[in-house]
Amino acid sequence: MNFNDLFQYKDLNIFYCDIDSERERGIIINEDCMKILRSLDDNSVNLTLTDIPYNSVNKADDSGGLRILKKGKADILTFDLQDFLEEIYRVTQNTIIIFCGKEQFSKIFCHYIDKLNNEKDKISIRQLIWAKSNPSPMNGDYMYLSGCENAVWVKKKGSPFNAHCKSNVLNFPCGRNKLHPTMKNLALIEDLIKDNSNENDIVFDPCAGSSSILYVAKNLNRKYLGVELDNEFFNIGKSLLTKGYEETCKEKNKNK
Ligand SMILES: C[S@@+](CC[C@H](N)C(=O)[O-])C[C@H]1O[C@@H](n2cnc3c(N)ncnc32)[C@H](O)[C@@H]1O
Repeated sequence: MNFNDLFQYKDLNIFYCDIDSERERGIIINEDCMKILRSLDDNSVNLTLTDIPYNSVNKADDSGGLRILKKGKADILTFDLQDFLEEIYRVTQNTIIIFCGKEQFSKIFCHYIDKLNNEKDKISIRQLIWAKSNPSPMNGDYMYLSGCENAVWVKKKGSPFNAHCKSNVLNFPCGRNKLHPTMKNLALIEDLIKDNSNENDIVFDPCAGSSSILYVAKNLNRKYLGVELDNEFFNIGKSLLTKGYEETCKEKNKNK
């Protein structure tokens, strides 16, 4: 993909990172991902790896009914999920990985199973489970801890798969120093990018938050394209992609 194609949208807040004289490595855009998705060509990114808003704000499901978890604006689903899934499928050439909430999981899984049942589409689908080695002890005297998160993995025929006999249960701790309320473990993201793409492939995150997925992609010599609706998270992403993780954490903690 030529990132310059996106220049046609002159009113977009685009941040170009890592552009050297030879090539563009990545951009993040402060916009609604549905607008950007509709402007992308078919098969224009290699790996879509994203963590959509779980939409559990004001619901008690994450705490098993005991307490409402407040993740605020980070967690509000602002688009139609079915439209999003169709667009993601259209623009992704190889593999799609979507971290999602429990209620969303079956909708997303079934959406892509329908494609699998359509003989034209040769795809493989799996549930991925992130098993947290250090789940929060919240409510641990009353019920089992909440120690896992789900993702839907969809691989189109012929796409790279660099893992070998690997379980779909991925064991990693939760991070403690977070740039975003729902940030994932960076080593988990690194494994997923290595397993499902090659160097110079384009990694796409339409719900980029702090751009942590893009930051890992950049460090693994992938190109990257990210979209984030919220200006505060977008600015954290700009800092992460230019100054790095330690410096961005320091700045965030200073401004608290
Ligand atoms: C679950 S969080 C992603 C967190 C991210 N993985 C990280 O490590 O920082 C989902 C993000 O999607 C963003 N978002 C919600 N609706 C969006 C939209 N229509 N377009 C782009 N981003 C959106 C939210 O602002 C939020 O930051």
